[in-house]
Amino acid sequence: MSIIRKLALAAGVGALLSSAAWADGLQGKVIGFSQIGSESGWRAAETSVTKQQAADRGVDLKFADAQQKQENQIKAIRGFIAQGVDAILVAPVVSTGWEEVLTEAQEAGIPVVLLDRGVDAPQELYLTSVASDQVKEGRVAGDWLVSTVGDKECKVVELQGTVGSSPAINRKQGFEEAIAGHANVTIIRSQTGDFTRSKGKEVMEGFLKAEGGGAGICAVYAHNDDMAVGAIQAIKDAGLKPGTDILVVSIDAVPDIFAAMVAGEANATVELTPDMAGPAFDALDAYLNGGTVPEKFIITESKLYTPADDPQGEYDRRKGLGY
Ligand code: AHR
Repeated sequence: MSIIRKLALAAGVGALLSSAAWADGLQGKVIGFSQIGSESGWRAAETSVTKQQAADRGVDLKFADAQQKQENQIKAIRGFIAQGVDAILVAPVVSTGWEEVLTEAQEAGIPVVLLDRGVDAPQELYLTSVASDQVKEGRVAGDWLVSTVGDKECKVVELQGTVGSSPAINRKQGFEEAIAGHANVTIIRSQTGDFTRSKGKEVMEGFLKAEGGGAGICAVYAHNDDMAVGAIQAIKDAGLKPGTDILVVSIDAVPDIFAAMVAGEANATVELTPDMAGPAFDALDAYLNGGTVPEKFIITESKLYTPADDPQGEYDRRKGLGY
């Protein structure tokens, strides 16, 4: 079974398998994809799904891994423009600094689709953006914590994503909105873990040390599951029980966080589908073949999962999807 079919089944979304998803409208089109890198399990899955979606549709995908550097992304986009590709997908590592290169693509008549992260640039410079509502993701995580702790005092440590990236900015904002008005829930420390497992662990070790071993920490809010998994390790190394002594809430819904839920070490995650390419290719198909201009923002779902949601089943459904 292809990764796309498995993903659709995992999400229980039959619509992903609609005829549009299998149309051959992009057959033979050359599409450049500037990917950020491979900082997280989610990112690896997005890359796999995009390559599979391209293969299923007969797209000649030119893939460029920017290794977390915006300058590499800009270079790759300029390379795609020079090659005269039919369209460009870009997952922008940070939100600022895109106007010039997006203008160059527009002047060359090449539509650009943003994947999973936003940019601070005029909207007319890109065809559409396929992403989650990242403020909502933070809000869903914060609402879960507020309702879980009730009136109890809860000191939260926050592991932020990459500095200057739209998910780091927006997930922080959403979480803060959710806890505002609940004086018993406060963020006592907040630092970037760059969306990686190793930095999540390192930063959590620092938080635990700074907080006298961690006894006063009620919860860790991580902007992605990989950092949460790193934090879980740090909590265990400090002799505390993640999921019990310190609650763990994060975003992505990768298989490893469900494994942690099965072990009683994680409490909640907000799902981010790695299939950004499906809606992006559908939009490009309609645009390149019929001139249909898509919605400017195509928003994916943000579903909350907790240990009550069959974490073993969710793990089984997701493993093998490229995470
Ligand atoms: O932009 C999406 C975020 O980037 C994912 O939540 C994170 O895991 C990734 O690296």
